Amino acid sequence: MHFISLLIVLTSLTSSASLAQNAATRAAATETKMTDAERTVLTHGIMAVPFGGPVNLPADGVIGAGYITGIPRLGVPSERETDASLGVSYVMGLRKDGATAMPSGMAMGATWNPTLIKRGGAMIGSEAKAKGFNVMLAGGMNLIREPRGGRTFEYFSEDPLLSGVLSGAAVAGIQSNHIISTVKHFALNNQETARHFIDVKISDAAARESDLLAFEIAIERGQPGSVMCSYNQVNGAYGCDSDYLLNTVLKKDWGYKGYVMSDWGAVPRLETALHGLDQQSGAQIDPAVFFAGPLAAAATHSAAYKTRLADMNRRVLYAIYANDVDVAAPRTTINFKANGDVAEATAKEAIVLLRNRGNTLPLAASAGKIAVIGGFADSGVLAGAGSSHVQGEGGPAVIIPLSGDGPFAGFINQAYHRSSPLKAMKARALQTSFVYHDGRYITDAVQAAKGADVAIIFATQWMSEGFDVPDLNLPNGQDALIDAVASANPNTIVVLETGGPVVMPWLDKTAAVVEAWYPGARGGEAIASVLYGDINPSGRLPVTFPASVSQLPHPVLAGSDTVEPNFQGIGKPGQTLSIDYNIEGSDVGYRWFARTAAKPLFPFGYGLSYSNFVHNGLKILGGQTISATFNVLNTSAKAGADVPQLYLVSVNGEAKQRLVGFDKVTLAPGASSRVTLTVDSRLLAEWKDGQWIVAAGRYGFAIGTSANDLGPVQNITLSTHKLGVHGTVAMLK
Ligand code: BGC
Repeated sequence: MHFISLLIVLTSLTSSASLAQNAATRAAATETKMTDAERTVLTHGIMAVPFGGPVNLPADGVIGAGYITGIPRLGVPSERETDASLGVSYVMGLRKDGATAMPSGMAMGATWNPTLIKRGGAMIGSEAKAKGFNVMLAGGMNLIREPRGGRTFEYFSEDPLLSGVLSGAAVAGIQSNHIISTVKHFALNNQETARHFIDVKISDAAARESDLLAFEIAIERGQPGSVMCSYNQVNGAYGCDSDYLLNTVLKKDWGYKGYVMSDWGAVPRLETALHGLDQQSGAQIDPAVFFAGPLAAAATHSAAYKTRLADMNRRVLYAIYANDVDVAAPRTTINFKANGDVAEATAKEAIVLLRNRGNTLPLAASAGKIAVIGGFADSGVLAGAGSSHVQGEGGPAVIIPLSGDGPFAGFINQAYHRSSPLKAMKARALQTSFVYHDGRYITDAVQAAKGADVAIIFATQWMSEGFDVPDLNLPNGQDALIDAVASANPNTIVVLETGGPVVMPWLDKTAAVVEAWYPGARGGEAIASVLYGDINPSGRLPVTFPASVSQLPHPVLAGSDTVEPNFQGIGKPGQTLSIDYNIEGSDVGYRWFARTAAKPLFPFGYGLSYSNFVHNGLKILGGQTISATFNVLNTSAKAGADVPQLYLVSVNGEAKQRLVGFDKVTLAPGASSRVTLTVDSRLLAEWKDGQWIVAAGRYGFAIGTSANDLGPVQNITLSTHKLGVHGTVAMLK
């Protein structure tokens, strides 16, 4: 590294460390100056949309998710909050100014590339700031315990390391704009059905080793100013009323210094303040504005509330100061071209090539006739719905309202970004004649496929916040459509735009399958460039694709037989539902498949390339920390990127499976690279008696191209290590 760049890195590290240190001192100083009336200003906010009547937004307010009044006398800015992890949200179309949509969270997960995700975070954060926001409700990162969960598309993966690393990178990128980001939804908010009342049962150890570990890693890496607590209950307490989650785990054990904001409509009572909640968001949809008058009154006669109130303010101020949030940042114009490039680069790395019989792909630009079928491929690419929904200027290319009426109806639309894969393919292959059929009629699609050299079906699975999907089949008869088209033309390629995993009863009949997820603002261009080989696919599955829902730990989606679907997940008065996550415990996703020896349709970590890669020379090294070194070789004539994955595969001869490291390596034809990965000790440990403990014994590791395709095992012997609550104590030999 150059001396100058080293100096810049060191200076910026020192300045962020001293910003954080000064933040605590400044926060205390400002809080001390507050009048009693001022002490309940930062503790609650409104939903900044006309909800059930006009909203009275102050002059500096922006239509978005929320607004918290500032305290100009003390130089404290108002908080202007926008959703969410994929860009500045569309807010049911209330905002007419467009924003750049990143690909879905699951797509970002499939890149396995924290550098790219940080860049995406920096991009969406800059758009939020340009529009006058200073808080982004981003960092959506619940683990995929339930692939039918309606927000699967918003989250990164089923693995704590991958989700934690990527979420931390996204948050760091967002906050590099001097705005605050959250991570959400804390915690165990893994399905939408009954989201407002489902009670998740899970042991402390299982939670710490899975969903909580993902948050812990994200918080360490991203230093989010805020954490958003979740709607659901965990062991009988609401996420926003959980002394265990907020006080014990987050604030005491992890030493978190920022503030906990509630999810919208997630505050059941005033006592949440004592249990660790610092700010009541969108308070008009809670039963009362607890954190205004009632909190002020409680603080006058209760020492516990008085202490908490000071702490609540200091935590909000800490986040503002640690991120150096401007008191009045000017609005600026957005360079949509440059920002679209960031979204497109991410989509290109997110696309996963699942099947490629006889090198059907890449397509030859000279192909004679291609029938393109379905998925509104002539107009755009699918987006997920709900509060995270982003749209470019001019709104969607296609929008299908699926909501009926009700206050949140505007959120529930099947919308397509203005980025047509068909147009992008036409621009790429001028000699080819393309025909497009919308796929509504099988007969018509089969006819078109028969007359073409290649048939490309765009198949979609729409997902929305508020609703889970009932199964993992493609909706609207698309499975039958694909089956019929693939039977009629053996050169059938399926391009999937899905929120997460789907089953593929037609798989064996197809020539190729490409998983493009919800690919964002420039998804059409990204898909075309992978189909034609301008981009060598390097996405890897961040989630297991089951062969059938019967392989899941919960074959029947909890509540699907008793709870009426509705956006808010509110049940009938007094209705209860619980789900026992102790069934799988911390064995989420691929770990459950390993435990049950079930064969998935496609394993976690899987993805093909137009290149071939070889891994060898694995060495596991002990010392202060465990690390692994190995070679990655590109043995093909095409440049490409590989994602070698390091798994723990056994402890004392007993099979285990945990992802403990990964890298994304770009290699020229014939080139090789020696990769070194350092293992986070917590990934080898178990949570026992209130701390991380690595048991004595022989630990086996292997490099995989997926969770199911592992190289030779290398062992290392470790003695017992008590790693403490943080697990950051070095592992001595
Ligand atoms: C969602 C959050 C979102 C909030 C504000 C809630 O319904 O669960 O993710 O940030 O609304 O729009």
